[in-house]
Amino acid sequence: MVKKVYNWGILAPGNIARKFTPELQQLDNARVYAVGSRNAERAKKFADEFGVGHYYNNYEDLVADPEVDIIYIASLHALHTEHALLCLNHKKPVLCEKALALNKTEVDKMVKSALENGVFFMEAFFTPHQPSYKEAKRIIESGELGKVKYIQGWFGFNRAPYNNSQRLLNPMLGGGALLDIGLYPVFDMLYFLGEPDQILAKAEFAETGVDESISIRFDYPEGKSASIYASFVAASGAGTDILCEFGTLRLRRSNAIEQWLEVDKPGSEVKRYSWEENACGLKLEAAEAMRCLDENRLQSDIMPHSMSLSLIKTLDIIRHKAEINYPERD
Ligand SMILES: NC(=O)c1ccc[n+]([C@@H]2O[C@H](COP(=O)([O-])OP(=O)(O)OC[C@H]3O[C@@H](n4cnc5c(N)ncnc54)[C@H](OP(=O)(O)O)[C@@H]3O)[C@@H](O)[C@H]2O)c1
Repeated sequence: MVKKVYNWGILAPGNIARKFTPELQQLDNARVYAVGSRNAERAKKFADEFGVGHYYNNYEDLVADPEVDIIYIASLHALHTEHALLCLNHKKPVLCEKALALNKTEVDKMVKSALENGVFFMEAFFTPHQPSYKEAKRIIESGELGKVKYIQGWFGFNRAPYNNSQRLLNPMLGGGALLDIGLYPVFDMLYFLGEPDQILAKAEFAETGVDESISIRFDYPEGKSASIYASFVAASGAGTDILCEFGTLRLRRSNAIEQWLEVDKPGSEVKRYSWEENACGLKLEAAEAMRCLDENRLQSDIMPHSMSLSLIKTLDIIRHKAEINYPERD
């Protein structure tokens, strides 16, 4: 059977769109067909850079183009809801960058619109598509390490030199460590342990009022617990240690491509798995979106609507506990 080739539209050609697009172009069933920016020059520059045939100086024309089969939303998280609803109401399938929105009310609207319009919708959250996460999940489900007892997850980098105009530091744009990077270890806890019974959270704030660092503790039944740290001032990289009854799993990544997993069982040699080739989460999530379209699915079972809803619900609780506010968007 001939494989359908999907025409992708890129909405908002910024930093992440520049990383995602070359990955997409490696997939033989994807064509980067069009790009839409609020600014004609930026649209043309991106089109020239990646050899994209069509470019628009607004998002509406991109979404209305009948040749576009699926849209990748790479705008800022404060604008994702508006842009996703625009796409979904035009019956365009959507892969939308994280954080999906600023609060659960907004994600509820996006999911409802996707279901009512009968259109595929998925959060572009790359980790569960990666082989390291799939292997860690397989090992835990196999029971060879016993039950998970405690997880520690972190994500940090040093933003210095500071510039208060950066989107990451702008509360009106949903800036702050929690929605930018803290949501990755929060996702890990949900992925490996589920939703906690109790959440404690404390933030340190930047001059602009956004959370510069955040520490979180999750408590679960049967004495299980988890802790999370995310920060714009600690160059920690990204990692997650999963402590189980009979050993520990250590997940690390240096970007969306390079990743490794260690399985450390007392009395045995540490097993180390690493991936680079064909392991880029951005490419794998795009491939998953097209697999779902091939199978006429409205959602992915790797990153289903229920997981996006559980994630934003947990993020809402965390930021209320830590007194993080996004003006006019609570
Ligand atoms: N999955 C990942 O690994 C990953 C990594 C980084 C970021 N992200 C997510 O991707 C999204 C975009 O991040 P980014 O770093 O790519 O952002 P960015 O480059 O700063 O901006 C992305 C685009 O958003 C529009 N934009 C920028 N500032 C704006 C403003 N003040 N008001 C309205 N629109 C504005 C611009 O599009 P126009 O050209 O149309 O104006 C810009 O090209 C965020 O939600 C972020 O969390 C994901």
